[in-house]
Amino acid sequence: MKINRRSFLKKTLAVGSLLTGGGSIISACSGIIRSDMPVRKPANQSAVQLDAVRNAILCYASLAPSGHNAQPWVVKIRSPNDWIIGADPQRRLPAVDPNNREAMLSIGAFAENLAIAASTFGLKAEMAVLAQDPFEKDILQVSLVQARLEDYPLQRITGRMTVKHGYLPGRIGKEDLQVLSKPFNGRIFYFPRGTAHADCIAEGAIENFRRQSQRDDAQQELVQWLRLSNREAERRRDGLTTEGMEIRGFKGWFVRNFVQPQDFMKPGYRRQGVDHTAKLARQGAGWLVITSEGRTIADLIETGRRFERMTLLARERSIAIQPMTQYLEEQAGLNQIAANHQKDMIPQFVLRVGYLKHYPEPVSLRRPVNWFIES
Ligand SMILES: Cc1cc2nc3c(=O)[nH]c(=O)nc-3n(C[C@H](O)[C@H](O)[C@H](O)COP(=O)(O)O)c2cc1C
Repeated sequence: MKINRRSFLKKTLAVGSLLTGGGSIISACSGIIRSDMPVRKPANQSAVQLDAVRNAILCYASLAPSGHNAQPWVVKIRSPNDWIIGADPQRRLPAVDPNNREAMLSIGAFAENLAIAASTFGLKAEMAVLAQDPFEKDILQVSLVQARLEDYPLQRITGRMTVKHGYLPGRIGKEDLQVLSKPFNGRIFYFPRGTAHADCIAEGAIENFRRQSQRDDAQQELVQWLRLSNREAERRRDGLTTEGMEIRGFKGWFVRNFVQPQDFMKPGYRRQGVDHTAKLARQGAGWLVITSEGRTIADLIETGRRFERMTLLARERSIAIQPMTQYLEEQAGLNQIAANHQKDMIPQFVLRVGYLKHYPEPVSLRRPVNWFIES
């Protein structure tokens, strides 16, 4: 395999800095962010050894988005070029994602990052869907074969995040819309801010968030994925941190130091969550809805891949994208959609979209590669 040494070093250093960063001194006054993660040997280190290229490919893959940042993937390394991407049963979200639909979308996004990163190292990631149902552990077979070196700007992957605040009110321009639609083959719909349809989606998103926040099982599941203290965030490197939830400044400091995840079960906290979501849902350029051709595992993986391809293009154009998934997680939301659309319309993502003045640096944490690989 031919790899330009300079570009290899640049890439592996960039990935290294994701894990090392400059700041191993984590101030008690600020929340942990991705670049704070110190280098240390994780306790549950896998015995599987990977070379630097394959380690880097999986590190890029793991920067994919996932519901509650649960990072539902596990990768079985059968040989250096033969891997199986699986769904980790410990990382399911049964209360909000009982059919593992979102886990499959997230694994699709992981697979897309993996394929892109591999291509920049002169490897083609050939993939075949193994699973028939979403509760099987083995989901996707990956074979790495030598191929032409592709030149893809990997900083799109390292720089992407789910931005929630600061959406500007301007509508998405025609040219940008064409670019974002490219991966979808017509299965994406834009509802610009100010239209009746966009208002309807915003109100539905808020209403279904409110419904979900009143459901104890869903709220308890959220509590399980909160990593409020820096200590817990550093120990687990997944889930939702104050920085990831964009709880900043004094409020962030207070939450990190004085609030327990279980406090989120209290009515006041649930109410605050709804009020906050209502404010966000009314900001931005409108909504994108992504649909799929069918409901098979292959459809879900493909939709997750396209979604990731789109968010990477959006990153480059300083366009923020936030899934507001409660609409698709609450039965009332699904019923409302079904009542107003044709039967073959299968929604997979409801996304708030908007231009940003400045695209921030990603903050959500990831587990190191050797925490999610096995032999
Ligand atoms: C299938 C799926 C559903 C998601 N649903 C929501 C959601 O309802 N609300 C939200 O704020 N973010 C949602 N997200 C974004 C995740 O919270 C986010 O990807 C995760 O916290 C990691 O952060 P990052 O995207 O900035 O890397 C979702 C992501 C995926 C892939």
